[in-house]
Amino acid sequence: MIPREIIDEIVYRNDIEQVISSYVTLKRAGSNLNGLCPFHSEKTPSFTVFPATKSFYCFGCGAGGDVITFIMRSENLDYADALRFLAQRAGITIPEDESQGGERTVSRKRIYEMNLAAARFFRDCLFDPKYGAEAMRYLTEERRLSMTTIKRFGIGFSPNNAWMLTNHMHSLGYTDEELVTGFLCGKSRNSGKTYDYFRNRVIFPIIDTTGNIVAFGGRVMDDSKPKYLNTSDTPAFKKSRHLFALNFAKNHAEEQMILCEGYMDVIALHAAGFENAVATLGTAITADQARIFAKYTKKVVITYDSDNAGQTAADKAMRLLGEAGVDVRVLKLEGAKDPDEFIKKYGTAAFKNVINESKSGFDFKMDKVISKYKISLAEEKIKAADEICRIIAAYYSGVEREIYILSASKQLGLSREVLLSDVERIRKKMRYEAAQKQSREAMMSAKNLDNRVNRDAAKHIRANAAEEALIGMMLIFDDLRAVVASGDAGVSAEDFSTDFGRRVFEVICALEVSEYGFSKAMLGQYFGLDEMGKLEQIEQDRRKYSRNGREVLDEYVRNLKEEKLLDANKDDISFILNAKRGRLQKEKEKNNQ
Ligand code: UTP
Ligand code: MN
Repeated sequence: MIPREIIDEIVYRNDIEQVISSYVTLKRAGSNLNGLCPFHSEKTPSFTVFPATKSFYCFGCGAGGDVITFIMRSENLDYADALRFLAQRAGITIPEDESQGGERTVSRKRIYEMNLAAARFFRDCLFDPKYGAEAMRYLTEERRLSMTTIKRFGIGFSPNNAWMLTNHMHSLGYTDEELVTGFLCGKSRNSGKTYDYFRNRVIFPIIDTTGNIVAFGGRVMDDSKPKYLNTSDTPAFKKSRHLFALNFAKNHAEEQMILCEGYMDVIALHAAGFENAVATLGTAITADQARIFAKYTKKVVITYDSDNAGQTAADKAMRLLGEAGVDVRVLKLEGAKDPDEFIKKYGTAAFKNVINESKSGFDFKMDKVISKYKISLAEEKIKAADEICRIIAAYYSGVEREIYILSASKQLGLSREVLLSDVERIRKKMRYEAAQKQSREAMMSAKNLDNRVNRDAAKHIRANAAEEALIGMMLIFDDLRAVVASGDAGVSAEDFSTDFGRRVFEVICALEVSEYGFSKAMLGQYFGLDEMGKLEQIEQDRRKYSRNGREVLDEYVRNLKEEKLLDANKDDISFILNAKRGRLQKEKEKNNQ
C-alpha cells in the first residue's frame, strides 16, 4: 500500500486542470471548465472539471472522480499504476513495495522485460546466418532495406521452429503463464504444451513513447496467409491505443505527421527521411489514436492504400482526426498502391511533391462529390450542392466553413450567399438533432450507470436518497465525517438499504478511523471506475444544497432508519400504514412551524 501522504502529495502536485488539459480541450465556464468528454463520443460538451474540488464529472456518461481516476480511465491503468504515472509526471518517488501486484498475475513491467528479451532473441536469429539468412535476404533484397534501417527498427526473425523462443524464455526464468499472457506463446488445446506464437516470420517490434517494447508484428516472407500476425491485447498493450513508430515520429511531429496503413510503409518512409510517419496496428484508426495525433501535432497527412478498403478507411480517419481537432490532408498516390511502392518507383522527391500538393480533407471530399455528378445538369448540380453543403456544415470552425463555401461557390458556380444560407439551415438542424440525441443518450446512460453501480437503488428510492445525502456530506465535510465514523451520529452499516451505499459507508468510516485518516484520493483502491463516477455525482449533487449541518445529517439518519424498518416489515400492512401516518404527521408539524 502506498502511504497516504504520498498519495495526497501526488494529487496535490498534479493539478487536475493541467493534467486533463493535455487530453481534453477545456473552456472556462464560471469557476469550472467544460470540454468534450474523452470517454464517450459527443458533440456538445458535458464533461466538467471542478478545480475547487479537484475532480471531474461527465453529465453525459457518468464518468467522474479525481485526477487518479481520470488517469486510470485515459491511460487504461489500475490504481497503483495510475499513481506511479502521476508520480513520475510530478517527479515524485514512490517507495517500492513488492507486495503490490494483487489481482493481475503478470505485471506490465514483467511483460516489458519479457518482450525486450524476446526482441533480442529475434534480432540475434536474424543476424545468425544459420537461422536468418533467408530473412535477411528478403529484407535487404526484396524489400530493399538498409542495415541501418533494419537495426533502427529492431527488426528480427522468428525461426521456423515451434519451441526455440519458448525454450529460450524458459531458460531466462519466464513461466508458461507469463509467456501466454504476453502473447509470445500459444498453448496447445490438446497437450496443454506451450509453443512459439511467431514462427518463420520477420518480426517488427512495436515500441511505445517511453521506449518499452509493447508488442510485435510478424510478416511471412511469401504469399502465405495470414500475411501478418500481431500481438493481441495484453495487460501491457492495447492495439487501439498505440501507433507503430510513434517512438520516433513524436520527435518530428511538430509540423505534421503522416499516417499510413502498414508497417512496411512506415519503415520505407522513415528510411526515405520522412521520420514523422506512423501506422495503426492492423486496424482502422480509433478515437483514442486520433487523440494521440492531436497531442503531438497539428496536421496529419493520410496516405492509405489506393484500393477501396483504403479509401473507406481514409474517410473514417478524416472524420476522427477532424473531431480530435487535427487539420487533415489526404494523399492520392497515382501509379502505386502504397507509399512503400511509390517511393521505390518514383523516389523521395516525388513523394515530397505529392505531400506538398496533398489536398485538404474538404477538397478531397468535394472532388469526390463533383466527380459523382454531372454538374452541367441542373438537377444533378442541386444534388451535388446539397451534399457539399452538408459536408461544409459539419465543420466546427466558422473560418473553415467560410473558406470552403468560397471554394465550393467557385467550383459549382453558385453564389456564396446561397450556399451560406443552406449551410446555416443544415447546421441548425444538425445542432437540434445532436442536442436531442445527446440528451436521450445522457438519460439512458445515467440510468444504466445507476443500475450498474447500485442495483438496489430503484427498489429503495427514499432510502437511497437519504444514503446519497449522507454519503455526500461525509465526502465533503470533515467534521460530519468524523461524527459519523465515531458512531456519535448513531448510524451504522446495518441502517443502509442498498449494498452499494453500505459499502461506501463502510469504506469511508474505515479510512476515517484508520491510522492513515480519510482522503478522497484513496477511494480509487476500493471502487471501480463507474463507482467512482457515481461517488463524484453524489458529491456534486450534495454541493448544490446549502443546508448541510448536523441537523440535516440527523434528519437523513432518521430517514434511513425509518426506511430500513419499513422494509423489514414490508409484509405487515398495518405497520406500514401507522408508520406512514406518523411520517405525515411529522411533516405537517414541520410545515406549521
Ligand atoms: P498491407 O497488406 O497493406 O501490408 O496491410 P503492408 O504493411 O503494406 O505490407 P507489405 O508491403 O505487403 O509487406 C497493412 C497493415 O495491415 C495489417 C498490418 O499492420 C499491415 O502493416 N495486417 C495486414 C495485419 O495485421 N494482418 C494481415 O494479415 C494483413
Ligand atoms: Mn505494402
